[in-house]
Amino acid sequence: MHEKTQSPFASLNREELIVRAEQGAAVLVEAIKELAFENEEKAKRAAELELANKELAFQNEEKVKRAAELELANKELAFQNEENTKLHERLFQAEKLESLGLLAGGVAHDMNNVLGAILGLSSAMQNFQVVDSPAWRAFDTIEKAATRGGKLVQSLLVFTRNSLPEERVLNLNEILQEEVRILAHTTLSHVRLTLDMDSELRPIRGDGAALTHAIMNLCVNAVDAMPEDGTLTLRTRNIDNAWIEVVVEDTGSGMSKEVLKRAFDPFFTTKEVGKGTGLGLSVVNRTVKAHQGQLEIQSEPGHGTRVGIRFPACEHSPYLGETTAEPRPESSPYALSVLLVDDDELIQSSMQAILELLGHSVTVASSGEEALSKLATDFQPDVVILDLNMPGLGGRGTLPRLRALRPTLPLILSTGQIDQVAIDLSRAHPHVTLLPKPFSTRDLQEKLAVLTTPKG
Ligand SMILES: Nc1ncnc2c1ncn2[C@@H]1O[C@H](COP(=O)(O)OP(=O)(O)OP(=O)(O)O)[C@@H](O)[C@H]1O
Ligand SMILES: [Mg+2]
Repeated sequence: MHEKTQSPFASLNREELIVRAEQGAAVLVEAIKELAFENEEKAKRAAELELANKELAFQNEEKVKRAAELELANKELAFQNEENTKLHERLFQAEKLESLGLLAGGVAHDMNNVLGAILGLSSAMQNFQVVDSPAWRAFDTIEKAATRGGKLVQSLLVFTRNSLPEERVLNLNEILQEEVRILAHTTLSHVRLTLDMDSELRPIRGDGAALTHAIMNLCVNAVDAMPEDGTLTLRTRNIDNAWIEVVVEDTGSGMSKEVLKRAFDPFFTTKEVGKGTGLGLSVVNRTVKAHQGQLEIQSEPGHGTRVGIRFPACEHSPYLGETTAEPRPESSPYALSVLLVDDDELIQSSMQAILELLGHSVTVASSGEEALSKLATDFQPDVVILDLNMPGLGGRGTLPRLRALRPTLPLILSTGQIDQVAIDLSRAHPHVTLLPKPFSTRDLQEKLAVLTTPKG
């Protein structure tokens, strides 16, 4: 029983076969169509994927760019922060200086009066001693100490307020000569001094005390820079018709770039505590500026330092007539009646003592108002000494009223700070001269003599 398997189409006739074949072909065509469609879809999807990939790559690139930009911005921010901190520090420094200035200004006023009393009385008393006796020398020392204190106060004022110097026509050679004299007495044992001064040096307009102080600061710095030995050179010359130059040069340690950059900063010092305040060069700088001068400094470690200062030269004619008069002989030949106007009791009593020692008689007024009421009577003083800085009317309010009462009465305007107000006041009124505090008996005598000597 073996049955032969038969083709399923065996029993079909020709027509039926054709129908079946056609059916099969149709199914195949459908299948092929389906496949083609699927292929197309796949190709589409591949294209889409490629696009998406490209997009991603592009976005990545953008991200990298943005990261770089962010880094740059961060750096910028860090830099600005640093700058801000620096600015803050500078502001803090400036504020500190300003409050110091206010403090110094206040202290300076009182200090000038204290020193004025000491200086005035000691210099007056010295005149009554036998020259070179112990008492004479003691008064001499007191006077020198008070003068130095006065200079310190002055340099604080110059430093903190740009106080305008008292102007005269002066010769810088003389100031240097004076400095040399002082150096010779003190520090010149180990330092050689070379002088190279132009004897035809043109004069300048300026404040002798402030300039002396500035030159002294430079010389002290130079000597300090040469602890073993070395040469200090002082030089003056005419540059052209408009300028003169002073040079202070040393062969000392010199300065590194860092020190040189900060040397003119107030309170910058490389010296040990108690040796330097760091105000020296900043005071020099201010003094030079107040004189419309220019300063140039060259320094290198191991090769010394050269400071050159240029000042505008001036004609030989006096600038402020009142301050350039020749010094007068020792004591005034006239016994004067002096009206002293000052609110400070120390100044009242010391000035009265000095004036009386010089042979003058004194009437004291403690305010401008009191002085004016005295002058409204038939009181006839020969000269008035008026303090500028007083409560109430003060010197500034008193002067014009006083002038209205007594148009030609000679007047000495005394003040601890020669500023624009003081200078303007003294210029606006005739027969007025300025006397900076603290002053010695000699300064006072000079002013009195100039004002009260009959003309002609
Ligand atoms: N001629 C110089 N040679 C070398 N260094 C100098 C010279 N002059 C100034 N300096 C440097 O500059 C710094 C500042 O000088 P400055 O005169 O302002 O202050 P100081 O001398 O330190 O103190 P002060 O003058 O107040 O006593 C000094 O401490 C020093 O380091
Ligand atoms: Mg110094």
